[in-house]
Amino acid sequence: MVKIYRSRNYREMSETAAGLFLAQIRKKPDSVLGLATGGTPVGLYQNLVQAYQRGEADFSRLSTLNLDEYQGLSGEDPHSYRYFINTQLFDHVNIEKTRTHVPDGTELHPEKACRDYDRLIARLGPVDLQLLGLGPNGHIAFNEPDDIFPSGTHCVTLDSSTIEANRRFFRSLGEVPKRAYTMGIGSIFSARQILLLVSGTGKAEILKQALSGPVTPRLPASILQFHPDVTLIADEDALSSLPR
Ligand code: PGA
Repeated sequence: MVKIYRSRNYREMSETAAGLFLAQIRKKPDSVLGLATGGTPVGLYQNLVQAYQRGEADFSRLSTLNLDEYQGLSGEDPHSYRYFINTQLFDHVNIEKTRTHVPDGTELHPEKACRDYDRLIARLGPVDLQLLGLGPNGHIAFNEPDDIFPSGTHCVTLDSSTIEANRRFFRSLGEVPKRAYTMGIGSIFSARQILLLVSGTGKAEILKQALSGPVTPRLPASILQFHPDVTLIADEDALSSLPR
């Protein structure tokens, strides 16, 4: 059963999501947070930084696990997800960087990169609050449509639709990495609470299918129907294909 918070717009969605994160941090200051990258959570992270600047949040005891990273990119590369999360959030709050984790894009042996990350998840987990965005093809993290729900961290070849969607962050289509390391569905599923953030009319149809269609690895986000504690915070545009 997915709890739905309907927001009027992106700003309200981001504020509501930040409220949920701040409540979690206050309730359990040493929480393990699962973090996402992409366009959708930018407003949420801005709200968290502002709450920190107002003295309303203490990040010093948190640990974090990011969902995914492009293969081949180091944390200094402005296109990497490590760089994204540092510059959007970690550089502006009192988090202990050594307790923040992103799959190692510079590890070119997929088996090692994935095994290391799974060990980390096993050591730190379960994640208390896992943030997710929704891909235009229904992916969560970089779990692309597939015949199975992969359990652990794995190396994926990105869908052409994902490469196309992420092209806006790069100078050209050719620059978008083709492979990535991603947490598996099993790991995502073991989070105590999941927060799915969705914005914009471009996601309305896929969101409707994910929430009310059959549960299938062809639409990875559909598995969230089976998780016991999922909250969806979405704006009116993203909810426009669902009945009120
Ligand atoms: P977006 O990406 O937030 O940039 O739309 C979401 C996703 O691909 O998971």
